[in-house]
Amino acid sequence: MAHARESSVVFSNPQEAKNRRSLLAPSFSRQAVMKLEYTIQQKVDQLVTLLQKYYSSPDSTAEISIAYRSLTTDVVTEYCFANSIDTLAHPNFSHPVAKQTRDVVKRMWIQVHFPFVIDIVKCVPEKFVLWLFPHFASFVDVKARFERQVDSLISNPDALSTTDHETIFHHLLAPKDLQLRPSRTSLVHEAFTLIGAGSDTVGHACTVGTYFALQDHSISMRLSEELREAWPDEDRPMSFSGLEKLPYLTAFIKEALRMSIGVIHPLPRIVSDETPEIGGLKLPAGTVVGMSQYFMHMNPEVFSDPYTFNPDRWLVEDTSEMMLNFVPFSKGPRQCIGLNLAWCELYLILGNVFRKLNLCLVGDNEDIDLKLGKVPNYFVPVWEKSGYKAFCKSAAGLKSSE
Ligand code: HEM
Repeated sequence: MAHARESSVVFSNPQEAKNRRSLLAPSFSRQAVMKLEYTIQQKVDQLVTLLQKYYSSPDSTAEISIAYRSLTTDVVTEYCFANSIDTLAHPNFSHPVAKQTRDVVKRMWIQVHFPFVIDIVKCVPEKFVLWLFPHFASFVDVKARFERQVDSLISNPDALSTTDHETIFHHLLAPKDLQLRPSRTSLVHEAFTLIGAGSDTVGHACTVGTYFALQDHSISMRLSEELREAWPDEDRPMSFSGLEKLPYLTAFIKEALRMSIGVIHPLPRIVSDETPEIGGLKLPAGTVVGMSQYFMHMNPEVFSDPYTFNPDRWLVEDTSEMMLNFVPFSKGPRQCIGLNLAWCELYLILGNVFRKLNLCLVGDNEDIDLKLGKVPNYFVPVWEKSGYKAFCKSAAGLKSSE
């Protein structure tokens, strides 16, 4: 994350991380998310309408992972900054920011192992970098967009009162303790972190869950039946808190989060003087340790037959052991700060998709076995076959009578 060194996810100094979290936390509380739920719903409606209108036959299919990433990019940029990139307005889900999120993830190893490369790139004139790597253009545009917003808010703080709704800048630019106010660079880095952390993750979980539901019709059928019963009139939106009460949808989302893993790269932690033993070993203070969530989510002693997508595993009476090992958002003081937003998005996106659409996989994809298979050590898992395509066969309500 060398391009966003001065941001929450990258701080290695615990006090620095705590300070930044204290400024960001109010924007991501459950209450804050519910206040801005309508911003998410609007974007979800936009995606559902696009899929219904333009992708309704095997000849006009959508690459679902990019469709979801377009949606989540728009949600996070609207929610955090009231400055949606509006990638959904781009025809055929082809906005470069949404399309290239995966490429950034695939190049993450360069940043992790050779961070100086980014420093070299920063010293070279931008035109030269773009000549060498033309696909960087969209990220240069995004950076410029958020630099413009930050500059305008710094020079005219009154502009905060004109945004459509509260943003993270309301908290970052006016902290109670003014010493905690981030620098301009840090504000831009934070914007980058939030866009990356908030778009690919949710998009990935939706892509994985949707794939398994489309591959196994009994799953999509149960989702759509439960949703239709609880939500008879699809023209009236169903709230996040209403969707949360649905047991099968909840089990499905948990299973999508378990199988999509979250972050696969071991998350580094520094052993302090006070750390007792780890796994029976006493480690010297300062040792960097890390573990991937992969090993917990795929532990057969906790999740039987762990490579099988099975929402029913969550519908038993006692899920306490599974919940202890279910860590898509990690745990502890550095756990995902956006988890309330993520849950809300997952319920609204998957609830609306399976209530209103009857998606079908196309061609070869119907037989694809989307096993985790080969997962190189990218920061988040890049499933070999997650580029599947689908189209809307009919309205979801017609499904059971077909
Ligand atoms: C399914 C969706 C998501 C997953 C699986 C996920 C997962 C994670 C994980 C595993 C971490 C690392 C925690 C650690 O180091 O222990 C993290 C951190 C973080 N996430 Fe998320 N995340 C998701 C959605 C979001 C959203 C929607 C946002 C906000 C827009 C967000 C913002 C952040 C930030 C800022 C951090 C850094 C927190 C810190 O270091 O203090 N994430 N996330």
